[in-house]
Parts: sequence; structure tokens; C-alpha cells
Amino acid sequence: MTSWSDCHRRDGQSISFVPTMGFLHEGHLSLMKESKRLGNKMVISIFVNPTQFGVGEDFDSYPSDLDRDFKLAEDIGVDVAFTPNKADFYPQGFDTFIDQEKLPNHLCGLSRSGHFQGVMTIVAKLFNVVNPDIAVFGEKDFQQLAIIRRMVKDLNFNIRIIGHPIVREADGLAMSSRNSKLTPDQRITGLCLITSLKKAQSSLKNNETNAAALMHNAVEFICSHPETEIDYIRICDPDTLDDVAEIDRPVLMAMAVKVGTTRLIDNMILNPDE
Ligand code: PAF
Repeated sequence: MTSWSDCHRRDGQSISFVPTMGFLHEGHLSLMKESKRLGNKMVISIFVNPTQFGVGEDFDSYPSDLDRDFKLAEDIGVDVAFTPNKADFYPQGFDTFIDQEKLPNHLCGLSRSGHFQGVMTIVAKLFNVVNPDIAVFGEKDFQQLAIIRRMVKDLNFNIRIIGHPIVREADGLAMSSRNSKLTPDQRITGLCLITSLKKAQSSLKNNETNAAALMHNAVEFICSHPETEIDYIRICDPDTLDDVAEIDRPVLMAMAVKVGTTRLIDNMILNPDE
């Protein structure tokens, strides 16, 4: 992989990169299209990274269909689909991890201990091996994107990080490989995430600027749906992820909700001036 990148870089080509865990959907394809627009050569990685899954999470049941992924990647014009194997990437004796002090101690990081350490470590390893000029990440994992931006700055990776807006199904459900695990009824219930975000947006428009009130309404609305279990709903500063009490500037409203056994996340920037 690295020789391929070195060779194209020597020829003056720029390399853009989309890391994925596979089971590609329209959201990934849209990141890839953006990536293709930005670089001369495009690489994706497909690797279900064990170090970002906690005990009892869905590592073993994470959906996978490599043949389908390769076909989709080829159709989009991906130059390389890099699929490292676990033994090569985490050989016996592997003992080095990347961590951050502040950003992981919010939102998903609070209930997924060690998750972002695993994400940062794998992304840094992929960056070192793929050696891209540009890397594209989705804004659905808003916290992940913020953490990667911080890591790239702090560790002097010479890579431009691009955030790409959330891609949604026609009815508004944020696209995710995990959506495939929802039953038809749960799929309908899953819409309560985006609906509660839209409700918060419209309450803000009607001058409800108190974050606690907006979060309370979202909790009530989501809990009124069957099979839901809220992990978190927060309104926070989009840069620091610190909680915001009164909304007087654009803020991030983010949530994670289990529908049945499937954990869904979604977010929206709420802007009092819109
Ligand atoms: O967002 C993901 O799919 C993963 O966290 C990533 C960035 C590919 C690292 O495993």
C-alpha cells in the first residue's frame, strides 16, 4: 500500500482517502465521491477495527460483505480498496495506543470507554500506511471527526481533513451500516432521532433557547417510542463538546439511542440565527 502511494506521490498525484469498516452504503459512497473530487487518486480502507469495540459491543456481529463492497468501490472509481488483516495490523505484542484528554470525555466517549483510543490508533496507523494528502470523514460521527482533526493537528500529520454532511434515507434516517440490523418496526422507530432533532430546531426558532428544555422534550419524545433506550442527548459547543446551557450561538445537538439492540447516533447544528 505504502509503495503504491509513494509511487503516485512521486508522479505528482495527490491521494485522497476514506477509511471505512465496510458494508458500504450511500453515506460511504457520498464520502468517496467527495474524495474523488478532491484528489487525483483515491484509496478506501475496509477494516473492522477490533480495538474500537468494547466488551459486549457488536464487533462479532458487525455486518460485512466484501464482494459487494469491492463492486461498489469499483463503480465509484476507487483506485485501491485496502483491506489489512487483523494479524498484520495488530501483531502479537502490539502495545501502543493514541489517546486524548478532553474530547473523548463527552458524548459517545462516556459510554464507550476506550472507543476513541481505538479509533485514533487505527486512523493514525492507516494514515501512516496509506500516506494520503486528504482524508474525508462523515459528520454523523461528529465527535470522531473533531477528535481526528485534533489528533492531526497535535501529531503534525500533513493531511487535510474534510468533514462531509450526514447522508440520510429519503425519510430522514441517518445512513449507517447498523441500520441493516433493524427490524421493519424498529426502522420506523429509528426515525424518532431525526424527528426529535427537527423538533428542537423548530422550538429554537420559536425562541426556546434553554438547552435543558430542548433536551427534556427530546427525551420525552424518544421514550414515547417502543424499544428505545437513550444513551445520551446533549447540546454542546461544536468545537469543545462542552455542554451549553443557553443557546446564543450555533450549537451541536447530538444523541445516541438504542433501538432494540442496535445503537443509532445522529446530530444537528442548531443555529439561533436561522
Ligand atoms: O467511522 C468509521 O467507520 C471508523 O470509526 C473508522 C474511521 C473507519 C476507523 O475504524
